[in-house]
Formats: sequence, C-alpha cells, structure tokens
Amino acid sequence: MGLLSNHRGSRTETNQETLPVSTAGLSVPPKKRWSNLMPLFVALVVIAEIAFLGKLDVAKNTVMVDTWADLIYWSPEVVPKDDLGIAHEVVPKDDLGVDMLGRGRSSESESCEEWLEREDAVTYSRNFTKEPILVNGAEQEWKSCAVGCNFGYNSGIKPDAAFGIPQQGGTASVLRSMESSQYYAENNMAMARRRGYHIVMTTSLSSDVPVGYFSWAEYDIMGPVQPKTESALAAAFISNCGARNFRLQALEGLEKANIKIDSYGGCHRNRDGRVDKVETLKHYKFSLAFENSNEEDYVTEKFFQSLVA
Ligand SMILES: *[C@@H]1O[C@H](CO)[C@@H](O)[C@H](O)[C@H]1NC(C)=O
Repeated sequence: MGLLSNHRGSRTETNQETLPVSTAGLSVPPKKRWSNLMPLFVALVVIAEIAFLGKLDVAKNTVMVDTWADLIYWSPEVVPKDDLGIAHEVVPKDDLGVDMLGRGRSSESESCEEWLEREDAVTYSRNFTKEPILVNGAEQEWKSCAVGCNFGYNSGIKPDAAFGIPQQGGTASVLRSMESSQYYAENNMAMARRRGYHIVMTTSLSSDVPVGYFSWAEYDIMGPVQPKTESALAAAFISNCGARNFRLQALEGLEKANIKIDSYGGCHRNRDGRVDKVETLKHYKFSLAFENSNEEDYVTEKFFQSLVA
C-alpha cells in the first residue's frame, strides 16, 4: 500500500506534508498546483517533440539533396543553409582555415587524397631522404619503410635501431618474435624490458608493435564452403605432444568419448600426415585448432587455417 500510494496522481497526505514550504509561494495549495500543471507539462513535452522531429526531417532532406561529396567539392559560398538555420557552417576549422569537410582548400583541383596527405603531414626534425633511418639485423625481411630507411649493416655509422641482442649507446633495440612467451620467456613484455629492449614486437596486442599471424593476403577466408565428406567429426594436426596446455588431454578425452577424430600429426596419428593441411581440413566439420600454449593474443595459423577450411 505504501508503495502504491506514492504513484503520480494518487499522492497521500503524508507526501504533501513533505513538500518544502518555499516552493509553495503561490496562493494555491501544493496539491492543487501540481495536479493543475501536469496536463500543461505533458502538452509542452508533446509540442517540443513535434518541433524536434520536424527539425530532424528538414535536416534529413537537406542532407539527401546535398550529399557529402557535394559539400566537399562545393566552395563555401554555395554551401546551403536550411530555413531553420540548422548550421552547415559549424564544422570546425583548423589554423590553416581549412575545415573538416575540406572547404577552403588551396586549389580546387587538389584531390581529397592530396589534401589529406598535406593535412596529415608530420614535420620531422630529420630529413629521411638525406639521412635514412639505419636499421641493423632485419635486412632479409624488409627493403623500405614509410620514411627513408636502410636495412642492413653499414660499418662506421651508428644504427638508429637494431634487431637482435640489446644494444648500447643510443641505438634502439628491437625484439621481434611471433613465438609464445611460455616457450620463449624473453617475449614476455616485462622480461624484454628488463633485458634492455626498447621496442618489443610480439603477438601480444600490448606489445609496442603487435605482429599477428593473420593477413588477408595469406588466408582466403571468403572461399566457398566445401562438402564435409569425411566420416570423422574432426581433424587434428598436432605434432608437439608435450604442449604446455591441455590440448593432448582434450584429444584423448574426445577419443575416450567415442568421438571419431582423424589425427594427421605426430600425436595419436591414425591418418597419413603427408597431405595439404587446409585442403584436408575443408572436408571436416571441425578442426582441433589448439595452440601449443594458452596465452593472451597468441593466435597462430592453426586458427586462421581452420577459418579458411
Ligand atoms: C631532404 O633532402 C633531399 C636530398 O638532399 C632534398 O632534395 C629535400 O628537399 C630535403 N627535404 C627537406 C624537407 O628539406
């Protein structure tokens, strides 16, 4: 009863008594005032809502007529304003007087890409054309980078960065590895820092430069689904039978539960392993894609090959 009596429109005497006296500056008693104002308040809300929706509608129509592309290529003078004054001119401008829609660009012939490149250009204190970044120890993998770089050894010149064992004297030391830190302890971020690495590149998304296994170029995950013709429910390609997690026990547990698994790897092998892994996987409903260790962000080709399949 107590709860119900607090509902709007059925206030009890007790509730009225708790109304502050200062709000009752008018001659009408509080109860009468509140109940009188309620319909007016509802009406105001409805009117405000109708007005708001009307504005939205006008704004929407304006956007439909003047597409974003039109806005970008039009000069400031012809940018339309609607009759409600809904601003198309509130777009902030940077200190060059160019707003976020690109109006005010230096020349009309400049493309969006050119404009963006000019806008996003960073001024470096070093001219990388004249003085390229010198990086030791990664020359087999990269030939160039976004700024001027030389990969390889250049005797007599102190490198800016070096892969491999930690360096002294102003050379940034880079650790790059895609192995699990449970097998390679130095890939642990804290350990790498203690060993003196300035830049850590591992599969951990928390590393300075995360390096993952997935690439769109390498995995055709949008290919058509193949018929699942194998009688076994799942395939396993497990070669390291001593992995530091439960994956072998998982395989054994499934086999004990009479779930047929075709094993192509060294562990519990029951099929000839000389096959193309992804092509083989395509004919199974499931793939046992356990990593060799359970580690945050450590997701290798095992998972992505299974997605492809
Ligand atoms: C950087 O150096 C190159 C080659 O010496 C020169 O052509 C270029 O104008 C320089 N760039 C800047 C921004 O100074």
